[in-house]
Amino acid sequence: MTVVAIDGPAGSGKSTIAAALAARLGVPHVDTGAFYRAATLAALRAGADPQDPDAVLAALAGARIDRRAGRTLLDGEDVEEEIRGPAVTRAVSAVSAHPAVRTALLDAQRAGVTPAGAVVEGRDAGTVVVPHADLKVWLTATPRERASRRAAQAGSATTAAVAAHEADIARRDALDAGRMVPASGVIAVDTTDRDVDAIVADLVSLARSQAERPAGP
Ligand code: DC
Repeated sequence: MTVVAIDGPAGSGKSTIAAALAARLGVPHVDTGAFYRAATLAALRAGADPQDPDAVLAALAGARIDRRAGRTLLDGEDVEEEIRGPAVTRAVSAVSAHPAVRTALLDAQRAGVTPAGAVVEGRDAGTVVVPHADLKVWLTATPRERASRRAAQAGSATTAAVAAHEADIARRDALDAGRMVPASGVIAVDTTDRDVDAIVADLVSLARSQAERPAGP
């Protein structure tokens, strides 16, 4: 069994690296952010105020969130594209800040770990979701690099677009700050100007050597 926790801020390369690492290790990729995004969509569809934890929890009580083959399902409907859109992205920090919402989603996130293991990606994978992970990684990149990646993903990499993403990243970092605490024993990896394949190759070796070590006292 190999369990890897990958945490880090938006645009640090988590999703790309976690997905590639999971494929290389032959284990599922558990995208915990997708659960917060689906919960946010459920709240928005129910007309709940994202700032109101009781309203969000009430919306969640009647909702079923599943992840299957890299897609996110809300009550059986594939909402993978919709949860990456601007409406959800604007509201998700507020929804994910509610402790009761975090608790409500934890079991579903942990259920993604199979007997073979998993690569669990998020903000609190190493501290909360899988604190027993064999390998804990904290990804970083410069704010400019993170903004450039987001701009390229959105299809417009003009100077103005990158600046707008950089401002949005600073806003989200501030909102997510309380949850962005590196776990103890974490390995920090700066992805700025680094090739994804090289980073993944390093992490595969690290994960394999950590998983083979006898459990500590
Ligand atoms: O990684 P992402 O952009 O899809 O995350 C969406 C939001 O959910 C972001 O505001 C941070 C939050 N999040 C969190 O609080 N805890 C996690 N484990 C994963 C994401």
